[in-house]
Amino acid sequence: MERSALSETEAFVTLATNDRYAYGALALGQSLRNSATTRQLAVLVTAQVTQAMRRQLTMVYDHIQQVDPLDSHDTAHLALLARPELGITFSKIHCWTLTQYTKCVFLDADCLVIKNVDDLFDREEFSAAPDVGWPDCFNSGVFVFRPSDETHRGLLQCAVTQGSFDGGDQGLLNIYFKDWAFKDISKHLPFIYNMTSSVSYSYLPAYRQFGNDVRIVHFIGMAKPWLYSYNVNTGHLQPPEGIGSQHDEELIKRWWSVFTSQIKPRIEHEQECFLSFQLLRNVGKDLANQFGEMKLDDSTASARSSSPRAGQRAWERGEIDYQGADRFDLILDQIKSVIEKEDTEEMEKTPENENKTE
Ligand code: UDP
Ligand code: GLC
Ligand code: MN
Repeated sequence: MERSALSETEAFVTLATNDRYAYGALALGQSLRNSATTRQLAVLVTAQVTQAMRRQLTMVYDHIQQVDPLDSHDTAHLALLARPELGITFSKIHCWTLTQYTKCVFLDADCLVIKNVDDLFDREEFSAAPDVGWPDCFNSGVFVFRPSDETHRGLLQCAVTQGSFDGGDQGLLNIYFKDWAFKDISKHLPFIYNMTSSVSYSYLPAYRQFGNDVRIVHFIGMAKPWLYSYNVNTGHLQPPEGIGSQHDEELIKRWWSVFTSQIKPRIEHEQECFLSFQLLRNVGKDLANQFGEMKLDDSTASARSSSPRAGQRAWERGEIDYQGADRFDLILDQIKSVIEKEDTEEMEKTPENENKTE
């Protein structure tokens, strides 16, 4: 088949069930564009993803597909994984319904493409890289698949009859594609296509040796790049409160570099457009709220709660902000105070000022 034909029938696919993961999807999609991919970009979203965020996604993705959220509600297995929030990753299996494509590569929204990976389309279903925790299982953050309604039905059936041993999609997919471990080595992707960035802690010498060959970084675990605090002006990075650092700092900075140079300007542009209309309509309010939550500096955390983590959890659950703690004027005040604080900090950098970040 000709390259131009392939670019219509093959796609990179990701998933975002809320706006927070959609920030990941934006950086991922942009990193794919930066890698000069010839393939389509598709993102699965659930109803919870706001219109403002969808507008941002359309600037990067060719196709946005709304899917029903699918949750394992398997609290027991998710507890073993220590990630109670990952039942919703069952929604990932809806990627098999994208039958307008003949072959796809799924990438978690917490991945960042460093170098072109179009050669992944030379692989067959089901190709994936070993999981660092149990290498006879594959990690389901990066995989090659063929959309098919039949496989989709099979996976749903498997979810009902056998469930998932980790409560998320990875446990389910490893049951369904159980011969992956031993049958065909060509379906084992090299680790550089799904480098779980925590290896910088678990196997630093290998990371030093091979780190420059990495093509896809996967920010596995709780400490997602968008939860770090990042000061655009100083380049200062702070790990998420209550979680701590789990990744190589340079890799997190690479994520932020894509975000601040290519995505943030588009969000700001949208905000500027809407600010003049804010009293007339609500357009853009969602985005402004989430932009406040992006922690572009550590004091831009949501005003929703005294504990940013609790506020984040509530927000991720889609809880309605009855008390108006996320009111737009409060968020705007928050953003203004950060900007003012940064200006002051720039002028007089004393230890006393640095302590005032909370
Ligand atoms: N995901 C999502 N909403 C959630 C949790 C996960 O959309 O609330 C999607 C997203 O694409 C994410 C993937 O499911 O990258 C897998 O979850 P995560 O990356 O957090 O798992 P990890 O790789 O850390 O085990
Ligand atoms: C994993 C994978 C992720 C998957 C999760 C739940 O660690 O990285 O893609 O969603 O487990 O199964
Ligand atoms: Mn992931």
